[in-house]
Amino acid sequence: MPRDTSKPHPRARHSHALVVFAHPEPQSFNGTLKDTAVTTLKEQGYAVEVSDLYGEGFDPAERPAHYPERTDRQVFEPLAEQRRAYEQESLPPEVQREIDRLERANLVVFQFPLWWHAQPAILKGWMDRVFVNGGLYTSSMRYNRGYFRGRRSLVSVTTGGPAETFAHNGRGGDIELLLWPLHYSLHYMGFTVLPAFRAHGIHGNGYAYQDAAGFRAHLEDTRQAWAARLRRLETAQPLRFADWDDWDESGRLKPGIKGYDYFIRAQP
Ligand SMILES: Cc1cc2nc3c(=O)[nH]c(=O)nc-3n(C[C@H](O)[C@H](O)[C@H](O)COP(=O)(O)O)c2cc1C
Repeated sequence: MPRDTSKPHPRARHSHALVVFAHPEPQSFNGTLKDTAVTTLKEQGYAVEVSDLYGEGFDPAERPAHYPERTDRQVFEPLAEQRRAYEQESLPPEVQREIDRLERANLVVFQFPLWWHAQPAILKGWMDRVFVNGGLYTSSMRYNRGYFRGRRSLVSVTTGGPAETFAHNGRGGDIELLLWPLHYSLHYMGFTVLPAFRAHGIHGNGYAYQDAAGFRAHLEDTRQAWAARLRRLETAQPLRFADWDDWDESGRLKPGIKGYDYFIRAQP
């Protein structure tokens, strides 16, 4: 049975964070930012867990092999198999482990590099498999009525391109738009979505920086800005998205509602 999302989750503690880490190299700058998040959040009194997707060998591909007891052996229907496995408490163990981690957390941080204008495939696949249909979302348990209502999520992304190229007219693409599908998916799951932390120009020497010392200083400044951001979480204004109050019966914005972003908007 889906949980009653009008009440806080019984297992959620106020100061429990999960850091979902999606980079194959612990010694990367993403690894440094992940370590900074763990240290800083612990200093702030959080209990912190890490889902190290590469390190733990998370399989991002949803597929029949994950469901030995199939509802339909002829045709693999991911939504149906997820629902059945949730109801019968036979989810794949690594999916159940991730859900257990999410349920303990009231803050979920995602640390990853921008790869092809989006999150790495391993993180997309984590969403495909862990946000279980029929369990963590249903047609009535979505958006502001979502499973994770009352909990916060925070994306921390690194990009190779410098900050200017991610402006609304930059060649990297407007970063707010690039992150929208991920942010909106978190909103769909009920999370309060805090504005992303963006580390730009993380691309090795000689790209945006003249010398190695200058680049190292940029990395350290960025790391410190991330730590400072994590210390100010309580005052962060969440992103605003359309939700049930804004849509009419057909699922379109009600007359007079302009929308809150470029993806769901009234006719200009
Ligand atoms: C497969 C792949 C795709 C990438 N795509 C982008 C991109 O679309 N935009 C961008 O600015 N950087 C892109 N990059 C650069 C990474 O964002 C950059 O290497 C990373 O943020 C550096 O962090 P790290 O040192 O922790 O790996 C890409 C890198 C890889 C490996």
